[in-house]
Amino acid sequence: MRKKIVAGNWKMNKSLQEGLELAKGLDKALKGKAVNCDVIIGTPFIHLASVVEAIDTNRIGVAAQNCADKESGAYTGEVSASMVASTGAKYVILGHSERRAYYGETPEILKEKVKLALANGLTPIFCIGEVLEEREANKHFDVVKAQLKASLFELSAEDFAKIVLAYEPVWAIGTGKTATPAQAQEMHAFIRETLIAKYGKEIADDTSILYGGSVNAGNAKELFSNVDVDGGLIGGASLGVDKFLPIVEAF
Ligand code: PGA
Repeated sequence: MRKKIVAGNWKMNKSLQEGLELAKGLDKALKGKAVNCDVIIGTPFIHLASVVEAIDTNRIGVAAQNCADKESGAYTGEVSASMVASTGAKYVILGHSERRAYYGETPEILKEKVKLALANGLTPIFCIGEVLEEREANKHFDVVKAQLKASLFELSAEDFAKIVLAYEPVWAIGTGKTATPAQAQEMHAFIRETLIAKYGKEIADDTSILYGGSVNAGNAKELFSNVDVDGGLIGGASLGVDKFLPIVEAF
């Protein structure tokens, strides 16, 4: 059975102190609560080790938002997958559209990052999704399939089974304009069909596919009620316990 997951992506927000306060606040709010999904928070690199220390990581998984495409060495300013793993973080968000658009992350670079994340025992939360022009030209299915193929489809079935996917239509990220539940379900079903064709039904059925793009307390329940939507990757609404908790509780 695939996991239901609600993951926060803090992006470049929160000082260390503010981040610790948020993480601890969420940990406290979840304590003793029966929730029906895994909860993850994606913090900036510098927060990882302190957040892991400050919370119960059985209750909340911790994710980095990126890692390097190189193992180690003279790459000033980079943070490797093994360094992320050494903090106690268990996940890494890879292929976010902001990384692709602003930092030139190509499918080939992402392929290396995925490999290194897996080699270091991290679970990649791998983001895919089309821009508005691609949807308007009815190319969104092709674009998403090509993104999967270019960065993930050389993985063995055993390795692919460790990946969490996040479908994030770029036009819905931070815009307040979410995909309709029907649009999300349509794409998630397409992704699952694509996975069936590549890796078979068992692996496809076990792969969690999250939806991301302006998810909030008001729309989460309807989005998550679709059979192929296994949770959410939450940006803006993950920056406060009051906004994030109701999304976790939408399951
Ligand atoms: P948003 O961001 O929820 O602020 O739209 C989602 C994301 O980029 O992961």
